[in-house]
Amino acid sequence: MSIQESLRLVSHGPIAVLEWDLIGEKVNKLSSPIMARFREILAELKTSPYKAIIFVSKKQKIFIAGADIEEIKGLSNAMECRQVLSEAHEIFNALEDLPIPTIAAIHGACLGGGCELVMACDYRLASDAKETKIGLPEIKLGVFPGFGGCLRLPRIVGLQASLDIILQGKSVDSKKALKMGWVDECVPEQLLEKRAFALAQEIVSGKKGKQFKKYVPKTKLDSFLESFVGRRIVFSKAKKSVLSATKGFYPAPLKALEVIQKTYGCTSREKSQAIEMAGFGEVAIGPISKYLIDIFYLTESVKKQTGVPSLPDLKPKTIRRMAVLGAGTMGGGIAQLAADNQIEVRMKDITNEALALGYKAASDLWQKDLQRKKLTAFDFQRKMSLISGGLDFSGFGQMDLVVEAIVEDMEVKKKVIAETVKHCSDQCIIATNTSSLSVTEMAKAHPYPKNFVGMHFFNPVNKMPLVEVIRGPQSSDEATAAVFACAKRMGKIPVVVKDGPGFLVNRLLMPYMIEAMFILEDGMDVQTVDHWFTHKFGMPMGPYRLMDEVGLDVCLKVVKIFKKSLGDRIEIPKITEKLASSGRLGKKNGRGYYSYDEKGKEMGVDHSIYKDLGLSQPTQKLTEKEVLERGVFTMINEAALVLYEDRIVEKPDAVDLGMIMGTGFPPFRGGLLRYADSLGTKYIATELDVYAARFGKRLTTSQPLANMAKNDRKFYS
Ligand code: NAI
Repeated sequence: MSIQESLRLVSHGPIAVLEWDLIGEKVNKLSSPIMARFREILAELKTSPYKAIIFVSKKQKIFIAGADIEEIKGLSNAMECRQVLSEAHEIFNALEDLPIPTIAAIHGACLGGGCELVMACDYRLASDAKETKIGLPEIKLGVFPGFGGCLRLPRIVGLQASLDIILQGKSVDSKKALKMGWVDECVPEQLLEKRAFALAQEIVSGKKGKQFKKYVPKTKLDSFLESFVGRRIVFSKAKKSVLSATKGFYPAPLKALEVIQKTYGCTSREKSQAIEMAGFGEVAIGPISKYLIDIFYLTESVKKQTGVPSLPDLKPKTIRRMAVLGAGTMGGGIAQLAADNQIEVRMKDITNEALALGYKAASDLWQKDLQRKKLTAFDFQRKMSLISGGLDFSGFGQMDLVVEAIVEDMEVKKKVIAETVKHCSDQCIIATNTSSLSVTEMAKAHPYPKNFVGMHFFNPVNKMPLVEVIRGPQSSDEATAAVFACAKRMGKIPVVVKDGPGFLVNRLLMPYMIEAMFILEDGMDVQTVDHWFTHKFGMPMGPYRLMDEVGLDVCLKVVKIFKKSLGDRIEIPKITEKLASSGRLGKKNGRGYYSYDEKGKEMGVDHSIYKDLGLSQPTQKLTEKEVLERGVFTMINEAALVLYEDRIVEKPDAVDLGMIMGTGFPPFRGGLLRYADSLGTKYIATELDVYAARFGKRLTTSQPLANMAKNDRKFYS
């Protein structure tokens, strides 16, 4: 990459324009060589005859995307951090202190370090284009703005608004940025450079000069929140909400809060920057930031994949029209998501009532966006018009993809698939959303099984990011790639998996849920166990709450399917029979391990569960360590089989991505197998064998894990 050409200083008489266009890169980012070049340019400008300088990007949709993440990941000690950050501070201070006024003409994403750069400018103009986003997403990578962002943003937009942005890693569009006072003007995209030049001319003619923007409260309440007492309230509320959102597992937001609290209103730039640097160093060198960066890379790499590793350049067929069989919980959700992403979709069900529910599910979701002003009435209508429905197969001849989401019954599904194929073109792909049935078996109903795959969405479809693309033995590369690409277009993260009971995610979750039932039989209580998994380990919900969510009837059905396919390895807890006859279905009928009101709100543990399941009152005889390890190690044990024996996925990162995106496995632990590596396979295997002796042979270390444990081999090399 030519650094000289990446940052080009173009002269327009008394006005200089600095064009950012990193050669050989899709985005502009602030790597060390670029920062060094920027420093040279600033030194040149300091003594130049120019009267104003404008910063522009020559990339289509990116202004500056941020600092170089690879460099952040590489930071391994406090000294290194201090060195990188103090250089960045020196450069941005030099920018802020330039004798000539600086104008950032922002079009496209202006994020992280890029956003910190423009905050050191005098004027910020932003295009009104939808791709223009201004924000500080660092918290999502386990760090916080470290190039002065924690100091400059509060000064520009006030304390309350800046905490909202920094602690949640938010970005806003240019209209919102203008309203907050983050940018000075929001300009139509085509006029952005013209307006920047006009402003520069005003500077040249002496009408305008340098400005050091400071937040001015607009209302009495705003003024109060900036007062000594007000600030204390704002900080204390912010801390509370960080703790409730992160349960204290993520150090970066708390550290950022501490930095802002120590520096807000401080008049010494050097002192404030030293505090920011020290705080940043603490979080950047810790493992959590490294894990979050790895997860970021994993999700980014999916965007570049085709779903067929041997064919990285395969151009997948575009899915323009899709049909969904079944307009129920999943079918309705899939139809809504497809239309939300501009795919024409037709729902087919067996009753008009079911179709009406499908329409309603979609409409309800968009209504919420309408109320929150995230959607215009026009867009609402347009999206609704992309969904049609019927009881017959009309229109199926034109479909590129049919997603089957009817009842979980092999014979019914096979019959419906065979019938559907008759109404479709030979090129149409049929994908099943089954959560537990064999895709290989189901494909037998299709005369061209190469056009048949699994496309397993998670519930609720609009929220859960994962889609498992199940490649059956006869599924073609083209069908796999088309469904993989379609999932991405629908905003999801697809993971290709081989067929097998429960595929990847449910395969690992099921032994965990079964273990939770045994833990109950061993005398633990629902609330304590769920609390340990959520508040001590970091799972989004505990195993009993999760079973209620999935549906206890569904769980029991899947346990039986697992028993059938995995044989002796699956032990069925005694309580399952009583659970089946208790009439408890979980959240859907308001009775499970917990009770729920008619709106589905959880009302606490239903204490009659112990009696109903024939259990005596809980004795709490297991420790937190025993409970958490039994639950989590069971999943690790199964993952070793999934990877090295059944080869459901090829690499450990697919397991980690699947578990994080499909179950919410705590990202700060890096994923199930990164977590396993942090403990060591030897330790896990030893513990499992102790648990197997005490609690049952289902906990015996699996052969592949035992092989790894012999020399403490890790999942990630
Ligand atoms: P649901 O019971 O909510 O919906 C099924 C729909 O299919 C109903 O509207 C029913 O009228 C319709 N239907 C039945 N026979 C049909 C036919 N011959 N043609 C067209 N429509 C027909 O079920 P849900 O929960 O949406 O599940 C559907 C599929 O998705 C199942 O295979 C299930 O295993 C899978 N799945 C379910 C998840 C969940 O959490 N509910 C999660 C992931 C997958």
